[in-house]
Amino acid sequence: MNKRRFRADDPERKAWQDAEKILSSIGLEQGMVFVDVGCGEGYFALPASRRVGPGGEVYAVDINAEAVAHLQEQAKNEGLRNLSAEAREAEATVVCEGCADIVFFGIDLHDFADPKKVIQNAKKMLKPSGRLVDLDWKDISMDVGPPAEIRFPVAKAKNLIESAGFRILSVQDAGPYHYLIIAGN
Ligand SMILES: C[S@@+](CC[C@H](N)C(=O)[O-])C[C@H]1O[C@@H](n2cnc3c(N)ncnc32)[C@H](O)[C@@H]1O
Repeated sequence: MNKRRFRADDPERKAWQDAEKILSSIGLEQGMVFVDVGCGEGYFALPASRRVGPGGEVYAVDINAEAVAHLQEQAKNEGLRNLSAEAREAEATVVCEGCADIVFFGIDLHDFADPKKVIQNAKKMLKPSGRLVDLDWKDISMDVGPPAEIRFPVAKAKNLIESAGFRILSVQDAGPYHYLIIAGN
């Protein structure tokens, strides 16, 4: 796969994936609790933190300690005190039970060793009214992103999400290269 780690302020990426627009489209609002699973350097966690504001919380986890350190530094520089970032395995992470308005997978569900377990953990973290959001690479030919054989076609992602007891609420395009699945309890 394309192992390039995305910088949080990657201008090239912004041309094909606007984090602010996506966070707005999924209904992230002030005061909400947002869990970013596989956050990398915070391409989504940082704008989410600014968006939910001081009354909200962002929990960001990633198995890559270096990426998490970058995110922590950026959050500190910006004074984003509502963002907590930890180096953890998603398969072993339930940041809190029934606390989250949104559990977000940013182009990474296909990367987890055990995506089923990660989705089950999302179920534990979400409030009854909460939403699981899976943004991932479309399964079509393109010259960016991971190789076709490791991508999750929409049907596979939906299946995994439904088998953890979620209801699919919508499936839409999110820019030229990605789909966005929103699911609820
Ligand atoms: C393609 S990157 C996406 C990062 C970020 N969500 C973004 O949109 O920029 C996938 C991320 O998943 C992380 N990851 C892979 N397996 C993981 C696991 N089992 N637990 C936690 N993070 C994991 C990687 O370290 C990497 O940062």
